[in-house]
Amino acid sequence: MSESSPVGPLRIAGLHLDSNLVLAPMAGFTNLAFRSIVKRIGGCGLVWSEMVAALAQGGVRHDARFAAQVAHLPDERPLAMQVYGREPGPCAALAAALVEAGAAAVDLNCGCPVRKAKEAGCGVALMREPARVATIIAAMRAAVRTPLGVKIRLGFDAGQRNGVEVARAAVDAGADFVCVHLRTGEHKHAGDPDFAGLAEVRAAVRVPLIANGSLDTPARVRHAISDLGADAVMIGRSACADPCVASSRALIARASRANSSLPRVGTRVDRSPLTRMRSTLSLSVASGRSSA
Ligand SMILES: Cc1cc2nc3c(=O)[nH]c(=O)nc-3n(C[C@H](O)[C@H](O)[C@H](O)COP(=O)(O)O)c2cc1C
Repeated sequence: MSESSPVGPLRIAGLHLDSNLVLAPMAGFTNLAFRSIVKRIGGCGLVWSEMVAALAQGGVRHDARFAAQVAHLPDERPLAMQVYGREPGPCAALAAALVEAGAAAVDLNCGCPVRKAKEAGCGVALMREPARVATIIAAMRAAVRTPLGVKIRLGFDAGQRNGVEVARAAVDAGADFVCVHLRTGEHKHAGDPDFAGLAEVRAAVRVPLIANGSLDTPARVRHAISDLGADAVMIGRSACADPCVASSRALIARASRANSSLPRVGTRVDRSPLTRMRSTLSLSVASGRSSA
């Protein structure tokens, strides 16, 4: 990464990424078609597919649904896939199956804030169980050799703001990278990113750190990477409004001279054919129906 631009290549364990801008996993959105659009625009270092649930009873059901979840095109590579679950054995078995299906990196979902996930003890509920996160990551570590990560929030809620503890537990158990959504679970997807939280996690772990959460202006991308030491930025909803956001080197390169008066990246192309997706997304987020 040059001093003038926050955007550049990144190495995560043995995996070389051309760009440290990555596309977030988004259930219902980051399917093969959407990922392909983003990749074809160019400049996105890593795309994430939608999360895949580990079967509670273990093993992997190699059915049509699983085939669709892991389907991808050669052009999409490197592709990251995500494990959703809470039992170490099944999560490890799924991680191995995802790698076998072509994942260049896998991670564990510790951020999904919807009620169903919390009731099942999955997603953001795992933020309350750092020891379990460590056990799951250790099991996944034993099962895969590809880069392994954890996607966390800054805490379960404001009262349990333990992102640092969970990040450390995951890294000590073998995680190669940490992705941190700069909110606690109670905030779901609303509000400004908590940059102080990013600084705390950055100070706690030395592995590649991917920052996420409304990093949707060049100024925010620059702040996260150049000022606070994130190694990469993960872009979610604003890429649904404009797939160029996660991909355009030229656009993100503007971050090097950005200030707060620059327009929000996500509002750049209101006439995008994907604007309808954005409306759907806002509605589902507003009504609490989003998946993570
Ligand atoms: C519709 C939707 C689906 C999501 N699905 C996932 C998912 O499968 N796994 C995950 O870790 N996060 C998921 N997320 C969270 C995003 O990856 C990301 O953390 C969040 O949207 C914040 O980033 P953004 O402000 O750039 O959108 C989802 C978010 C949305 C809005």
